[in-house]
Amino acid sequence: MVTGGRGGIGRAIVRRLLREEFTVYAADLTPEGSIFSDDEHQGRFVRLDVTSEDEARAAMNLVLEEQGKLDVLVNAAGIELEKTIEHTTLDEWNRSFAVNVTGTFLASKHALPLMRQATADGRTASIINFGSYDGFIADPGLAAYCATKGAVHALTKAMACDHGPEGIRVNAVCPGYIDTPMLQSFFAGAGSGGQGRSLESLKEAVRNVHPIRNYGTPDDIANLVNWLASDEARYASGQLWVLDGGLSAQVQQMRL
Ligand SMILES: NC(=O)c1ccc[n+]([C@@H]2O[C@H](COP(=O)([O-])OP(=O)(O)OC[C@H]3O[C@@H](n4cnc5c(N)ncnc54)[C@H](O)[C@@H]3O)[C@@H](O)[C@H]2O)c1
Repeated sequence: MVTGGRGGIGRAIVRRLLREEFTVYAADLTPEGSIFSDDEHQGRFVRLDVTSEDEARAAMNLVLEEQGKLDVLVNAAGIELEKTIEHTTLDEWNRSFAVNVTGTFLASKHALPLMRQATADGRTASIINFGSYDGFIADPGLAAYCATKGAVHALTKAMACDHGPEGIRVNAVCPGYIDTPMLQSFFAGAGSGGQGRSLESLKEAVRNVHPIRNYGTPDDIANLVNWLASDEARYASGQLWVLDGGLSAQVQQMRL
C-alpha cells in the first residue's frame, strides 16, 4: 500500500512496484480515475484520509480481506506549509502534524497485524516512511513542515526498534528537491525566499546549488523505495536514507 499514491512521488512508487509485480493499493484522498498506465499489472485505488483512524482501519481491512497480508507500506502522503511560525495558525500547525506525523502513525498502526501475516514464513515486511532533508536542516519559511519531518525521523527509529524483532523493517526516505507538484508549489510560494525573482531564475539557482546540478525525479525516489521494499534490503532498518543529489553534504558556497 502506498499512501499519497496519487501524488508526484506516490505515483512513481505505485508504477515501480507494479512493474516489480506487487499487487499495489494506491491510497489517497481522491480515489477516482486511473493512474495505472501499466497494461500488464493491475493496481487498485483505496480512499484513505490518513488523518482518520476509521479510514486507516477500513483500508487495512480491505487489504486483509483481499490479500490476507501486507508486505509493504509506503507512507508517502504529506503536505507542506510554506510559512514561518509567526504566520502559522494553530490549525495549520495541527493539520501539518495530522497528515505528516499522525497519518504515518495511524496507517502503520493498522498495518502491523497484516504485516505479521507477511512475516509468518520468515521473510521481512517493510514500512517506508517519508521524512525529508528538511528534517535535518531547514529551508527558510517551512517551520511546521521541518518539525513534522524531524518527528517522522524519530518515529521511524522508534518503530524500527519496536517491530524489528517481529521481522518488520522500518526506514525513512528523506528526499531533497524532487520535481513534483509539491516542489512547484514551493517555488511559487513566498516562503521559498524567492523575493520577486522569476520562477525560472529561482529554479536555476536551486538546481545549481546541488553538487550534481539538478533536482531529483520521482523515479529516483521510487528506485530507492523499491530496494527498501525488496528482500535485498533485508538487513536495512531504522535508517534515514537521504536522497538529495549531495545537497546536504556541502557547506553552502559563498556567492561573491
Ligand atoms: N517533492 C519533494 O521535493 C519532497 C522533498 C522531501 C520530502 N517529500 C515528501 O515526499 C512525500 C510525497 O511528496 P510529493 O512531492 O509526492 O507531494 P505531492 O503533493 O505531489 O503528493 C502528496 C500526496 O499526498 C496526498 N495527501 C495529502 N493529504 C492527505 C491525507 N490526509 N490523506 C491521504 N493522502 C493525502 C495528496 O492528495 C497527494 O496525492 C511527502 O511526504 C513529502 O513531504 C517531498
